[in-house]
Amino acid sequence: MTRHHRTPRILGTLLLVATAALTLGAGDRPAAAARGTTPFDRVVPAPASVQQGGAPYEISRSTRIRVDGTSGSRQVGEYLAQVLRPSTGYPLPLTTTGTGGIRLALGDGPFGAEGYRLTSDSRGVTITAGRPAGLFHGVQTLRQLLPPAVERKTAQPGPWAVAGGTVTDSPRYAYRGAMLDVSRHFFTVAQVERYIDELALYKINTLHLHLSDDQGWRIAVDSWPRLASYGGSTQVGGGPGGFYTKAQYQEIVRHAAARYVEIVPEIDMPGHTNAALASYAGLNCNGVAPPLYTGTNVGFSSLCVSKQETYDFADDVLRELAALTPGRYLHIGGDEAHSTSHADYVTFMDRVQPIVARYGKTVIGWHQLTGAHPVKGALAQYWGLDSTSAQEKAQVVQAARNGTGLILSPADRVYLDMKYTEDTPVGQDWAGLVEVRRSYDWDPGTYLPGVPASAVAGVEAPLWSETITTAADIDYLTFPRLPGVAELGWSPAATHDWDAYRLRLAAQGPRWDALGIGYYRSPQVPWAS
Ligand code: ACM
Repeated sequence: MTRHHRTPRILGTLLLVATAALTLGAGDRPAAAARGTTPFDRVVPAPASVQQGGAPYEISRSTRIRVDGTSGSRQVGEYLAQVLRPSTGYPLPLTTTGTGGIRLALGDGPFGAEGYRLTSDSRGVTITAGRPAGLFHGVQTLRQLLPPAVERKTAQPGPWAVAGGTVTDSPRYAYRGAMLDVSRHFFTVAQVERYIDELALYKINTLHLHLSDDQGWRIAVDSWPRLASYGGSTQVGGGPGGFYTKAQYQEIVRHAAARYVEIVPEIDMPGHTNAALASYAGLNCNGVAPPLYTGTNVGFSSLCVSKQETYDFADDVLRELAALTPGRYLHIGGDEAHSTSHADYVTFMDRVQPIVARYGKTVIGWHQLTGAHPVKGALAQYWGLDSTSAQEKAQVVQAARNGTGLILSPADRVYLDMKYTEDTPVGQDWAGLVEVRRSYDWDPGTYLPGVPASAVAGVEAPLWSETITTAADIDYLTFPRLPGVAELGWSPAATHDWDAYRLRLAAQGPRWDALGIGYYRSPQVPWAS
């Protein structure tokens, strides 16, 4: 499959879900509405199970955040306090004693790695989880149960009531990702951290950073310093580009970890490598460095598969990156290697995948990796379209049957850089126009027929940056589609229903307004105002 960057190729009530135990008593909803609380059926992603009922809890000046003495509980408590203090104007001290208030407790239970239970009654709100990540996700649910003004950075009038009831929740998929292309246009640490904050709101737990491509190399590598200093010195359109120092990358990793988001760094190889080839002549088969590239074509560059220097480069880069990255994965790209012969591609992947393992990490590659020999444990990221050939799909399905896990990123569903409509001011359309319903209305569990359910690791929404340069651009393409992808990753399949989802999504609009997130006001969604 080829991306055509310059050539448009447009391809073509309240839900009561029995299995999700979404049960609202007849009298609960009016009572909740009368007190101005947000009903539990407005939470995105839809929780696995909700039971609304009983008296609400009102956060007041005397509310305390009760943590259990573990560092995880305390860290999540501090995070919650930082959300709530500016808008409520309340002190909300952390404490390990007393009763009532907002309690964050680690405990035994069927929570898994990320699940939680949230109970609310007149005395307080209790979030219980087996792991700090579960507490953190429970806090995101709590935010959405409070009025949207809670997200503002200045004191608001309140009141701050949470409807009574119980949410019991855990994710469908362990891998729930977004990707930001920082190569085509460079984004600063602050911009990336802002994106992480936005992802965390919707229980996304992975940020894949596309750190290298033809147009720019964005991470400092001590053993090959020109990659960043020269290869990072421009971007699409010829701007100054940029790169992350190791300290800056680690700051991003820390910021993400504090939000239970794992960073997956990608070094795209053997194609998409012009920035590296321009920086080191020796990486080219002819020994001549090409000029830097600031256009948007793809498929014209390749590392020199027959040279040992190529593998010294890959080893050094992956070693240094692994040392900076506490997460489990290194993404080695592998897409659109149109200037690499198939035999060379297979040779390259056979040599580079073991390097990832040597440095203690697990391989992720774009799904073209399934045309080589994916190593045991590797994940393939599927980015095909409805129109992708049956042969290409069959290759991916066969790999999944042989044990390769899949991350699903169908381009005509979840590529966030696709325009919503012909009028969308930024973005591309080579995979089609992708309105909000289209991005939400599919099932990862049945998307590629023949793939065993257990092979689907999860979903990821990539945002390529050929056409975008600002945080506002990022927000506009991300919202409102990203929450739908987050819901596909988190919520039980039984909750999937467009008519119910569009109401949940509409309820997010005032939250984005409060957070300063500009979004596409899709006519498919009944926005409140
Ligand atoms: C891709 O969009 N080339 C993975």
